[in-house]
Amino acid sequence: MIAPSRPYPFGIPDAATKKPRIAVIAGDGIGVEVTEQALRALPALGVDAELTHFPWSANHYLATGETLPKGALEQLRDGFDAILFGAMGDPRIPEQIVARDVLLGLRFGLDLYINLRPVELFDERLCPIKGKGPQHIDFVVLRENTEGPYVQMGGTFKRGTPDEVAISEDLNTRKGVERIVRAAFALAGLPRAGSASAISGPPSKPRVCMIDKANALPHAHGLWQRVFKEVAAEPAHKDIAASHLYVDVAAMEFVRAPERFDVVVTSNLFGDILTDLGAAICGGLGVAASGNIHPGRVSLFEPVHGSAPDIAGRGIANPLAAFLTLALLLEHVGRSEAAGRLRAAVQAVVRRGETTVDIGGTLSTAACGDAVLAALSRYSNSSTLS
Ligand SMILES: NC(=O)c1ccc[n+]([C@@H]2O[C@H](COP(=O)([O-])OP(=O)(O)OC[C@H]3O[C@@H](n4cnc5c(N)ncnc54)[C@H](O)[C@@H]3O)[C@@H](O)[C@H]2O)c1
Repeated sequence: MIAPSRPYPFGIPDAATKKPRIAVIAGDGIGVEVTEQALRALPALGVDAELTHFPWSANHYLATGETLPKGALEQLRDGFDAILFGAMGDPRIPEQIVARDVLLGLRFGLDLYINLRPVELFDERLCPIKGKGPQHIDFVVLRENTEGPYVQMGGTFKRGTPDEVAISEDLNTRKGVERIVRAAFALAGLPRAGSASAISGPPSKPRVCMIDKANALPHAHGLWQRVFKEVAAEPAHKDIAASHLYVDVAAMEFVRAPERFDVVVTSNLFGDILTDLGAAICGGLGVAASGNIHPGRVSLFEPVHGSAPDIAGRGIANPLAAFLTLALLLEHVGRSEAAGRLRAAVQAVVRRGETTVDIGGTLSTAACGDAVLAALSRYSNSSTLS
């Protein structure tokens, strides 16, 4: 039995009544291969969407010199509900300027301040931790997505000399911290039917855990602690259990006792690191999905993995992260029921072992895509999945 999708409070208003307008940026390497598979699910789910493909990628840059063209931000902001993104990164491109301009350009330019990454185990077989199953690993990380060291503030002095000084600033604003903390409470506060995180007995109280390092970063993460305490104390959040962990302890707890987490909120850098650990305890990058979200506005959904040049073009990339990414996107455009069916189909193929080699199967990318579509069709024929 699959856990029900978490209620999703960040979607486009009234989206369910409109045809979703989806921009597709498949990008480089396996981004192209897995996006092609994920898109096959739309007609299979009966979702009638308006798709527009954008060519931005390493190949496009090498042919035209263009990364993210002028006007692209406005075009995406005004003309679309969601962006389905594959991956970017190509060894031929110096300093990854295409990936930086396009992906970071969109994250910052569209103010996609929530990086939402589910950490959800679909089958015990995929978990490297002894004795942990799907009932133990079912949480979501909200990573702040527009601040921290990623704003690239800083510089070097006396570069290349023995006296070199290198400084990277960690930017944290009251506005930036407060809005991501509020997003975590908004997500935790929505009732979730039959929560799989309850190991026994009735569903547990919703929990938000803030992860910081205020003992070493008293200024930046002192701000996080103050804001978190203020927001947690508001009457609207009285039924949500709020706690905090230092990031070193949190890394240990992700492995030792993942069942203690429900909604996690953290900074950009810590979220980056912790969510790779989160992916690892659920089967790895081949099954990890993410959303870069501004509530109620166009948002970008992408697998956590990159373009994987080591396996690109070989037809062995795992497409399941891309299918799960599409499920997140469908929530954003008001298609929760279709999103739930797609997640259930992915879980069914994982449980049947109809997967690519990275998670123990033998199938090609396309054959794994076929298996997901077959699971969807079994579902619509019988209304239960096997
Ligand atoms: N959001 C993004 O677009 C994004 C994210 C991470 C890395 N990158 C870029 O991707 C390029 C490669 O980076 P990397 O190798 O560090 O990370 P990566 O995620 O591309 O690959 C890491 C390892 O995981 C494997 N892997 C990843 N996804 C897989 C899948 N779906 N199925 C099976 N195996 C999979 C790869 O084969 C590789 O061995 C770089 O240019 C990097 O900058 C882009």
